[in-house]
Amino acid sequence: MKDYAKLWVGYTPKKNNRDCSALSRIVMNGASENDRIVKNAVSELKDGLKAMLDIVPDVTFGMAGTDIKVTKGADIQDREEYSITLNTDSLVIDGKSASGILYAVFDILRTVACEKSIEKVYAVKKTVRPSNPLRMLNHWDNMDGSIERGYSGKSFFYVDNEIVIDERTKDYARLIASVGINAVVINNVNVKDAASYMITDRYFDKLAQLGEIFAGYGIGLYMCLNYASTIEIGGLDSADPLDEKVIGWWKEKMAEVFAKIPTLKGFLVKADSEGRPGPFTYGRTQADGANMLADIVKEYGAIIIWRCFVYNCKQDWRDKKTDRARAGYDNFIPMDGDYHDNVILQIKNGPMDFQIREPISPLLGGLKKTNQMLEVQIAQEYTGQQIDVCYLIPEFKEILGFKTYCSENDDTVADIISGKTFNSRYSGIAAVTNTGNDLNWTGNYLAGANLFGFGRLAFETELSSEQIAEEFVRMTITQDDAAVKAIMDILLRSREVYERYTCPLGIGWMVTPATHYGCSVDGYEYDRWGTYHRADHLGIGVDRTDKGTGYALLYNEPNASMYNDPEKCPDELVLFFHHLPYTHVLHSGKTVIQHIYDTHFEGYAEAKEMAATWDSLKDKLDAEIYENVRERFERQLVNAREWCDQVNSYFFRKSGIPDEKGREIW
Ligand code: GCU
Repeated sequence: MKDYAKLWVGYTPKKNNRDCSALSRIVMNGASENDRIVKNAVSELKDGLKAMLDIVPDVTFGMAGTDIKVTKGADIQDREEYSITLNTDSLVIDGKSASGILYAVFDILRTVACEKSIEKVYAVKKTVRPSNPLRMLNHWDNMDGSIERGYSGKSFFYVDNEIVIDERTKDYARLIASVGINAVVINNVNVKDAASYMITDRYFDKLAQLGEIFAGYGIGLYMCLNYASTIEIGGLDSADPLDEKVIGWWKEKMAEVFAKIPTLKGFLVKADSEGRPGPFTYGRTQADGANMLADIVKEYGAIIIWRCFVYNCKQDWRDKKTDRARAGYDNFIPMDGDYHDNVILQIKNGPMDFQIREPISPLLGGLKKTNQMLEVQIAQEYTGQQIDVCYLIPEFKEILGFKTYCSENDDTVADIISGKTFNSRYSGIAAVTNTGNDLNWTGNYLAGANLFGFGRLAFETELSSEQIAEEFVRMTITQDDAAVKAIMDILLRSREVYERYTCPLGIGWMVTPATHYGCSVDGYEYDRWGTYHRADHLGIGVDRTDKGTGYALLYNEPNASMYNDPEKCPDELVLFFHHLPYTHVLHSGKTVIQHIYDTHFEGYAEAKEMAATWDSLKDKLDAEIYENVRERFERQLVNAREWCDQVNSYFFRKSGIPDEKGREIW
C-alpha cells in the first residue's frame, strides 16, 4: 500500500537557516527530560531539523520547574504557554510544562518549514499563551468504520467494531499536536451499537493504550456517552437523572472506567436531540442530566461537555410559529447558572446547523453564568464535502470576532470561549473534524487547510486567515512563491465563492436532503426539520422579527435592533431574518432577485477561474497533489453549475422577473 501523506509534519529539505548556529544548541527549560511529552518533543525536533536542514541539535535541559496543577481552564493555558529566546549560539525554550516545550518545538519547526529566518522570527523573545484552554476535535467516527459526515474515507480509529492502533495513530497525534490541539473526542455524538460498549471491558485495554499515545503529545482523550446507557447496557428501566438507581449505576460505571482508562478527561453528550435519548424523556431539564454526570466524574478531575443542539426535529412545515433557530436558546437559557462548574455547554456557531452563512448563536452572549465552548465544523457537510474547496478560517474569524454586547469589555465570541469574559472555569473551541483514512487524511489536499487552520486559530486566535493559509501552503503544498500566492488566493476567496453559487443572503438549506451535497431548492421546504425558505411568487425569507418568530430579539442590543430591521440587517443575513419581496433593494443597491442572479452567475464563473488557476500550477506541484485537487475541481464545477442554474431558474420561475443582464436562465 502507498504511504499516507505526512502533510505539514512531513518535513522536506529546506534552503534557509542552514547556517543558523543557534539551531545546533537547544536548551529546554520547564520540564524533566524524562517526561514522555518532552521525549516526543526532542525526537520531533531532531527528526525535523535533520530532515529539513541536516542539523542534529545538541539538546540540553535546564530547570525542570514545577508543573501547574489543572483545576480550571486558565491553568491549562498557563501550563501550555511557552517562550523562545534567541542567543548567539543557542535557542532557549521556556515551557511552563512539557506541553509548552512541545508547542515551542513545533513553533521552531514551523518557522524552518516555512523558510522563515530563525534569526528574524525570534530576534525578540517570542511568548505564546494559547488563546483557549480546550482546543478540541470531535470525531464523528462510528465503530463499524463509517464516519457520519465523513468525506475522507473511513475511520482510522475503528474497523469492524474494533479499535485500531497502528503507525497512523501516532502520526495523527503528531499532526494535530503540531497545530495545538489538546483534546480529542474519538467517537460519534450519536452513540449507538458497539459504541455504547466503549465504557465496558470490551474496549478498555485499547482505549487505555490510545489514551497513552495521546497523552504523549499533550492530548486529552474524551469519549461520547450514550445517555441511555443505564437502559441499553445497564439493564435498568430508566435513565432519569434524578433516579437513585440511575445515579448509583453511573457511579459504579465511572469508577470502573476511570480506573481502566487513567488518561480519560471526560465525556461529550448529545442528549434529547435528533432521536437521541435525554433527560426531557423524564420531564427533567438539560441541567439535571448534565449535572448528574458531572457530579459523578468530578472526583476523577473530569468534565462533561453537553451539547446545545437540542431542537424539535419533527416540526410541521405549515407551523410558522415554531422556529428551530430559537430552540437552543429556549432550551438552555432558563437554566443559566444551574450547570455545575465541571459542565461545559458546547454551542454550534449558528442557531441552525453549519450552513454556509448563519448568524451567531444567541446562546453565545446570552449565557452569562455557564461554561461555554464553541462548536464549528471542518467536516464540510454543508460546505462542499471536501469536493468543493471551501477554506473556512475566514468564517471562523468572523464568528470569533462577533461582538455579542454581553458585557462592557471583552464581549466577542473569542473572549467568551477563551474564558475571559465571565472568568469561566472551563471553556474552549471544538471542531467536528474532517479526517479519515484517505492517504492524505482529508480527502482533498486543500481541505487540510481547515484542519491545520482550525488548530492554529484555536491556539492563536489573533492569527489572520492569510497567515494561516500561507503557513499551510508552504508546509504542505509548495514553496514556490508564485504558486503559494495563487493557492492562497484560491483558499481565501473559496468560501465566498461557495456562498455565491449556493444559498443566497443567509437563507441556507437548499441542499439535497440527507446527503447534504448538491442543490435542491425545495429539498427541505416541506419537511420536518424546521428548515424553510418560504419562497412564493412575491418574496422569500423567514420572518424572525418581533412580528414573526421573535428570534431576532434574542440578541443583546444593539444586535437585536439591527437584525430586527430589514434596513439595518446586513445583506448577507437578510433572508435569515426577514421575508422580503424580490424587489426589495439591498444595501448593495441591488434588488434581492438581481442579487440572486448576479451572485450565482459570478460564483460559478469564479469557481471556473479557481479551477483554471489550479490547472496553471501543474508544472510547479507534486503530481499527486495536483491531480487530487484537479479532480475535485472538476466535480466542483459540475456542482457549481447545477447550483447556479437551478437556483436561478427556480427564482425566475417563481418571480417571473427577468435578469437585468439578459443572461441565460432555464
Ligand atoms: C447534523 C448532521 C448530523 C449530526 C448532527 C449533530 O444534523 O447532519 O449528522 O448528527 O448535526 O450535530 O448532532
